[in-house]
This record gives sequence, C-alpha cells and structure tokens, in this order.
Amino acid sequence: MQTAISIPDLRRIRTQLKGTFGLVPTMGALHDGHLSLIPRALAECDHVGVSIFVNPTQFGPNEDFERYPRDLARDLKLLEPLGVDVVWTPTPESLYPAGFQTWVTVEETSRPLEGEHRPGHFRGVATVVAKLFNAVGPDRAYFGQKDAQQVAVIKRMVRDLNFPVEIVVCPTKRESDGLAMSSRNVYLNQAERQCATVLFRALSAAKKIYDQGERNGVRLREAMLMTIAHEPLARVEYVSAADPDSLGELDKVEDRVLLSLAVRIGRTRLIDNFLLSQ
Ligand code: PAF
Repeated sequence: MQTAISIPDLRRIRTQLKGTFGLVPTMGALHDGHLSLIPRALAECDHVGVSIFVNPTQFGPNEDFERYPRDLARDLKLLEPLGVDVVWTPTPESLYPAGFQTWVTVEETSRPLEGEHRPGHFRGVATVVAKLFNAVGPDRAYFGQKDAQQVAVIKRMVRDLNFPVEIVVCPTKRESDGLAMSSRNVYLNQAERQCATVLFRALSAAKKIYDQGERNGVRLREAMLMTIAHEPLARVEYVSAADPDSLGELDKVEDRVLLSLAVRIGRTRLIDNFLLSQ
C-alpha cells in the first residue's frame, strides 16, 4: 500500500497503476461502513485508492470540524490488510490554495433537507469531490447510501460537469441494533447511544406501514415523527418522504420513496434513510 500527500506524488503513483481505478473518498475515522466499500471497489476495479481528508469547507461555522475524530495511524492500519493500492492524505493548503475562490454548486438538489439545515454543506462536498476526481481520475467512485442526498448531489454534478466517473452506491452498514454506522457515533454517551436507535426505529415504523400499502407521504412522515416524539433526548430536524432523485416531498408515492431524517441526540446530529421501492 503506497501513500501520497502531495498531488504530484499522488499523480506519479496513479499513472503507474494501469487499468481501471476505483476511488473511495473518506474523511477518515474509518468504520465498517467505509471498509465495506473497499472489497466492492476491489472486485470491480483493477486498482483502488482511498482519500482521507477532513474537508473544512463542508462544515458550517458552528459545526464539529475541530472535534471531528482524526486518527490517521489507525486508519492506515485498518486499510493495510485490505489490498488498497494507494492512500492519499492531501493537506488543506494543497486543496485550498491561498486565494481559493472557485466553487461547484449543485443548485436544486442541494437545497432541501440537509441543505436547508446545513447551508453551504453541499457546496463544500461537491467542490472537494470534484477536486478529488480531478486529481485522481478514477473510473468509479464509491459512496455509502447513508448519505443519500450527498449521493444525489454528486450524481447530478457528475452528469452536469461530464465527469467520466461511475458513481457506485453501497448499502448502509448498521450496528446490530440498527444504528447506521457513522464516524459521529463516537460522540454519543451511553444514554444517547441507546436513544440513537430512534432513527432506525422511526424509519422502520414508516416502512412497516409502507409494506402494508400506505402510500400517503404525510402519513409516512407522521409515522417517523410519532416514534421520535417518544424519545425525550431526541430533537427532530426533519423527516422526509421524498422522490429519491429530485428530493421533492411526495404527497403520494408512485414507485420509489426516500424516507430520510435528521435528529439531534444531545449535541450530536445524526442522519439516516431507507430507500423503498414497490
Ligand atoms: O462522505 C464523506 O465522508 C465526505 O462528505 C466526502 C464525500 C469524503 C467529501 O468530503
């Protein structure tokens, strides 16, 4: 496993790796959700690279950029046995040189849900992912379904800017009690960790009535809200039953629906989603 910090070093390694290349972009603090992307990428590509970069531009001024978990030595140790060809750990100065002023904005898809509650978040995500794609030149890039809106934003950017990259979306990895794996789960104390299953329970409640034939968007959203209302530690930011591509809220589900929600448990903000089809 080779490692690179500078863009020239990354490019030198990358040009030596012939055949198809899969990129797994991450912010480090790797968990089984990230690690599950790697066998998939290795199965589908001749070579695989992982980027680790805590991207400052996707954090709002009152968000957790400073305290976001960072442990590069641990991340490298986890990646080493998996067969990854290269790990790229760019510096903030190389990705955002002095005077930086060029941004990628995916307008409509970035607006609702996370975009409404985290202004500027997807501008930061789209910009850094465009820069990672430019530097690496992958054939495929691997993302988790857990960040459903991020996936929708990146897919739109790839189409709109003609990036020759296939976006591969992999299933959300969960703990045994249903909690979606996230680097932010380490912020939860014991009581909060117990409460955090409320996201999975709320989604499951909506899925249950969906499986029984409910197609009314209001009722699906209500099912999630009612579950969260029973948890004193949980503060809901949004619940949504939306079209998976446009992310517009649905009155009536025709064929597919993205159920998603953001909930604060203490100081920690968690998101999760289920993608349901007929
Ligand atoms: O999902 C993440 O970890 C980040 O948003 C990403 C895609 C690596 C961009 O910083």
